[in-house]
Amino acid sequence: MWTYEKRLQYPVRILRPNPRLAKAIISQFGGPDGELSASMRYLSQRYSMPYNEVKGLLTDIGTEELAHMEIVCAIVHQLTKNLTPEQIKQQGFDDYYVDHTVGLWPTAAAGIPHNALTYASKGDAITDLTEDMAAEQKARTTYDNILRLTDDPDVADVIKFLRQREIVHHQRFGEGLRIVQDKLDSRNFYLTNPEFD
Ligand SMILES: [Fe+2]
Repeated sequence: MWTYEKRLQYPVRILRPNPRLAKAIISQFGGPDGELSASMRYLSQRYSMPYNEVKGLLTDIGTEELAHMEIVCAIVHQLTKNLTPEQIKQQGFDDYYVDHTVGLWPTAAAGIPHNALTYASKGDAITDLTEDMAAEQKARTTYDNILRLTDDPDVADVIKFLRQREIVHHQRFGEGLRIVQDKLDSRNFYLTNPEFD
């Protein structure tokens, strides 16, 4: 079970609305390498992971990704507060607005809805942890791209925090992969699937 703390992991205080930027950042909510995908990937994979240290790692990071999803949603919400119809039209927000007003809906920046096919839970420790390391790099790249599109320091400050956490997660999944490999036949890591055989 989870205990909810009524605060963000990192504060979000954005003063200037910017619906165009919100439409890019929403990809880290519902896009292929976003925080919703990240949390569901790790919280799904943990059940069949055979080693408790690595199972705990997936639970810890999956939980933190939920907190990151909350931060991304807070950013999008604050960037789209108190918009005028003119701002909506001028900043290309009308196609999102017509279906969702300013509610949060998990989508990629290009409008592709959130899809579980963007992540895997394969039931093989090495396969899953290799995916997780790649996923963290993809999330870090997406935050780099968002930073290049951002000229608001209040937004960039939070995005830099999230980017840094992806780097830490990549490192920690690397340690998890090493734990799994240390427990397997070092001459052939791929001889068996420790989650099944
Ligand atoms: Fe992450």
